[in-house]
Amino acid sequence: MMPGWLDSVLTYLLQWGPHHDPPKQNMDDIDDLEDVFELMFSCGWGLVVAIFVLLLLFWLFLYLLSLRNQYNLAGKHVLITGGSSGIGKAVAKEALLRGAEVVTILARNEEKLEATKSELERLITPKLDQRVNTISADVCSEELQEELEIGLSGLPPVDVLINSAGITFTASFQDTTPQDFEKQLQVNVLGSVRPTKVLLPDMIEKQQGRIVFISSMAGQTALYGYTAYSASKYAVRGLAEVLDMELKVHNIRVSVSFPPDTDTPMLQGELGQRSPIVKAQAGFGSVFKAESVARDICRGIERGKFLITHGFDGFLLGVIATGMSPVYHWATLITEVVCLGLFRLVGCVYITLFYNIVRRETKKAKKQN
Ligand SMILES: NC(=O)c1ccc[n+]([C@@H]2O[C@H](COP(=O)([O-])OP(=O)(O)OC[C@H]3O[C@@H](n4cnc5c(N)ncnc54)[C@H](OP(=O)(O)O)[C@@H]3O)[C@@H](O)[C@H]2O)c1
Repeated sequence: MMPGWLDSVLTYLLQWGPHHDPPKQNMDDIDDLEDVFELMFSCGWGLVVAIFVLLLLFWLFLYLLSLRNQYNLAGKHVLITGGSSGIGKAVAKEALLRGAEVVTILARNEEKLEATKSELERLITPKLDQRVNTISADVCSEELQEELEIGLSGLPPVDVLINSAGITFTASFQDTTPQDFEKQLQVNVLGSVRPTKVLLPDMIEKQQGRIVFISSMAGQTALYGYTAYSASKYAVRGLAEVLDMELKVHNIRVSVSFPPDTDTPMLQGELGQRSPIVKAQAGFGSVFKAESVARDICRGIERGKFLITHGFDGFLLGVIATGMSPVYHWATLITEVVCLGLFRLVGCVYITLFYNIVRRETKKAKKQN
């Protein structure tokens, strides 16, 4: 038996659209597959449009479901490496605004940590009994375990770890030394591995937790002048994918964020190093505010997203570079399947333009020399 509403829709369509044969006037006339095909032909575009609209509504329904929170930052202990500046600091603010009970920020420079702590404490809601804690440590240090144990003593266990500490570097491959590669990999990759290793056993014991890695758009696509940085940020994504597979059974979810150029002290410092090619390629995107990136990250954690992208370009690149990443929701999967072909085409246009920039600027530089 067909539901009444579907019966009415199909009956209506029977009388609408370009008819090749005398259309059937009643649903009772539809008995077998042949009749269904006849109905489709007789209804022409009407049926196609109706199916499209139904699919769209179904997708919209799934999409709305995907917006529901699966996790709540309220009442949690959130530890942010690199929390004294830029994206990390903005995430610390956002976590407090979302009701986190304890926010621990970790970085090396104590003065910066104290200044950020005072800034964050202004956001505290007294009745929520929120606290801001600081730990001065180097994420690459052998003593990190000890420093974290001391810095976290007397506090509730960490529920959410955000690995935001990172450094950047831009120069062509010829001007990048093996030591530059080592430094990038040390801080950006091992500097995320070490805190995760220290805090994970506790999360596994509690069978709950969230771990976030901060990669970059340079961890999804080639950008001129970032061989060392890109290598480290692609590695972060690989790390996050495998870790999610290993930890899901423990009810621990992993996310990875891919920020575009974001207005932070890191970006300000890097702008001076940028070659004309890097500047021209960066000109295709806009500079995001750290607050907006932080909002996406916190929202992504609460919705249980694996890939956290930022803005429309980020969404487009996220779909193209989705690869074999874990599926977080049916709505996302459908979006990826439907958009992938077209987005790949758009991506091809971008990458061709990027190669053209390299050719043009290299020619220009040769002429000037
Ligand atoms: N800004 C962008 O355009 C952008 C774009 C894509 C991705 N990202 C990524 O986002 C993350 C945050 O970048 P940001 O722009 O917020 O940078 P930022 O403003 O320079 O902040 C970096 C933070 O990391 C800390 N840090 C650096 N090295 C550390 C170490 N060895 N041990 C402990 N803490 C360390 C810094 O404090 P101390 O120096 O005091 O230790 C600071 O708190 C990085 O992973 C970066 O690669 C940034």
